[in-house]
Amino acid sequence: MNEMTGYGRIAQRPQENAELTHVEFGTPMGELMRRYWQPFCLSDELNDLPKAIRILGEDLVAFRDGQGRTGLVDRHCAHRGTSLEYGKIEENGIRCCFHGWLFDPEGRCLEQPAEPEDSTSKDRVRQPWYPTHEFGGLVFAYMGPPERQPEFPEFDILTGDGVVLTAYRNISRGAIAECNWLQIQENAMDPVHTAFLHQSINVSHFTELFGDHGEWQLDFEETPFGMKYVRTSKFEDGRQYTRVAENFVPNARSIPDPFFAEDETMHEKSRLIGWWVPVDSTHTIGFHIESLRVVDGKTVPSLLAEGEEGRVSATQAPRRSYEETQRDPDDREAQVSQGPIAIHALEHLATSDKGVVLFRRRLKEALEAIERGEDPVGISRDPANRTIEVCASNSMVND
Ligand code: FES
Ligand SMILES: [Fe+2]
Repeated sequence: MNEMTGYGRIAQRPQENAELTHVEFGTPMGELMRRYWQPFCLSDELNDLPKAIRILGEDLVAFRDGQGRTGLVDRHCAHRGTSLEYGKIEENGIRCCFHGWLFDPEGRCLEQPAEPEDSTSKDRVRQPWYPTHEFGGLVFAYMGPPERQPEFPEFDILTGDGVVLTAYRNISRGAIAECNWLQIQENAMDPVHTAFLHQSINVSHFTELFGDHGEWQLDFEETPFGMKYVRTSKFEDGRQYTRVAENFVPNARSIPDPFFAEDETMHEKSRLIGWWVPVDSTHTIGFHIESLRVVDGKTVPSLLAEGEEGRVSATQAPRRSYEETQRDPDDREAQVSQGPIAIHALEHLATSDKGVVLFRRRLKEALEAIERGEDPVGISRDPANRTIEVCASNSMVND
C-alpha cells in the first residue's frame, strides 16, 4: 500500500482564520483596523478631479476642495446614489454631477440647487464622511467610532529639524496586491526569508549581509506598539552586525535600510514607516513615508521608491515574463502565491516562524482589548503623548 497521497485533501480544506484576516465592517479585524489612522492615497493624487478609493471593503471618494481641505466621503451621493467620482470640485467641497448637490469635506450638504429657496432639506442630509489628516505626503483617514478617534501618531524618525520626507506607493507586491494584508504584513517579522528569497535562492536582492548564514541569532520581542526582531551576526574578524525590524499593530512597520554598507562601523535608525492597507480582505495596497538621506545639502533619492512594479527596489532588474518571475522570484511571488487568504490551519509552523507566531498573538491581544471595551495597543488620545519611538535600526560594531 502507498503512503498517504494528496487524494481527498480538497474535501477537507479548512477555512481561513477569518478573525485575523477579514477586514470588512463588523468583523473583529475590521474593527481593529478602523481604530487606527490609515493612509489611503498620496497627497499629490488629490488634484482637480475626485479620486475613487476603496479601503477596508468600503467604497469612498476622496477630494481636495478649493481651500485645500481633504475630504473622504461615501462614494454614492446621499440624494440618489450617483458616484461622486464624477463630481465637480469647488471652493467649498464637491458637487454631485447629477443634480448639483454640494457637500463639504465633512459631508454637510451646502446646496441643493433644484430645491425651493426656503427649503430646509439640505439641513437634514449628511453625506457619510470620515476625518482625514495629511502627513508627510500621504492622506490618512480615521474610519472608526468617532468617540474613539486617536491622536495622529508622531513617529520620531519622521520628525525633527532637517528631516526631508518622501511618500510613495509601495508597489513591490503589485499596484494592488492580490492577497490578504496579513500575509504581507507578517513578512517583516520573518527575517529568515531575507536569507533565502532575497539572497541565496537566486540573485542577491539587497545587502550581502542577508546571505550570511554563519553565526547568526534571532530574537523576537514585544514592544510597546507591537513587536520586533533582533538579528545578530558575528563575523570572524570580530565585528557584529545587528538588524532590528519592527511591526506596529495592526498594519504598519519599520524596516532599516536593506542596503546597509557592510564595511562601515555605525549605527543607523530606520528611515521609513510602511503600511499595508487592506482594500478588502483579498486585496492590499502599500504606502511608505521615508526620510531621505541628505549628503552635501542634496537629498539622495530612495531606491525603494523607484522600484518597478513587483520589485522591492530600483536595484532589482524588472522581469517581463512569467518565466522571469520563476527564475527570480521576489516578495510578490512568495506572498501572493500563498493564496488570496493564506490558510493558517494548513501551515506547519517551525522554529523560524517565531516572529509570525508572536505577531499573530499581538494582533489577537489587540482584538481582545477591543472586546473588553479598551483601546488596543498604540492608541493615544493625549496630544502630549503621541510619539512612537522607533527601534528599527542597523548597526555594525567592532568588538
Ligand atoms: S444623485 Fe447626487 S445630486 Fe442627485
Ligand atoms: Fe522580503
